[in-house]
Amino acid sequence: MSGGLFISFEGGEGVGKSTQVRRLAARLQAAGREVVVTREPGGSPGAEAIRNLVLNGSADRWSPVTETLLMYASRRDHIERTLRPALERGAVVLCDRYADSTRAYQGAAGGADPDLISALETFILEDVRPVRTLVFDLDPEAGLARALGRPDAEARFESKGLDFHRRLRAGFLAIARDEPARCRVIDAAGDPDQVEARILDALADLPGVLG
Ligand code: TYD
Repeated sequence: MSGGLFISFEGGEGVGKSTQVRRLAARLQAAGREVVVTREPGGSPGAEAIRNLVLNGSADRWSPVTETLLMYASRRDHIERTLRPALERGAVVLCDRYADSTRAYQGAAGGADPDLISALETFILEDVRPVRTLVFDLDPEAGLARALGRPDAEARFESKGLDFHRRLRAGFLAIARDEPARCRVIDAAGDPDQVEARILDALADLPGVLG
């Protein structure tokens, strides 16, 4: 994608991604880059409407396969309306969650068929794929305690229990292990300055990002 740079932020609940997305955006803007900060599910009006369906309600409102399809419907709208245009303009796109969240939440933790998810990646993502993915890693008990402390109504996934969140962590770590060129595991323990330093390290080899 000409000139643009796509970085995704992934991990379980309460790992501190959003704070770090904001910090990195400010740093890149100060360096003169156009930065688009976005999130999934969501990031375009249609995708935000689907977000409301999928994140609210009881934990068993949707099956993992139905969730996968809803996530991919919202992702396709996000790609068409937000991500592809931004990357074609040459922007740096910082995306809070992307396709790896479907692999980990609906696949590894939820039990949806990985072949279904791979097929959707092929047909729906096409070439809109991150060049670098930061996988925030934290003990799920610590992450859930942080996430449940937030005044946040969208808690469907937070309410799924510790076993689900253990499978989720293993799912993210497996993705990082399988795709070492794209993924970097970020230790999300410690204060935000420490985590930010780890992120800068994990991006240092990308040409033109941090000067
Ligand atoms: P959000 O409040 O943005 O959570 P967080 O701050 O942890 O990113 O809610 C996003 C939720 O949606 C989160 O619980 C993970 C879930 N999700 C999936 O299950 N599959 C997906 O493909 C995506 C993008 C998100």
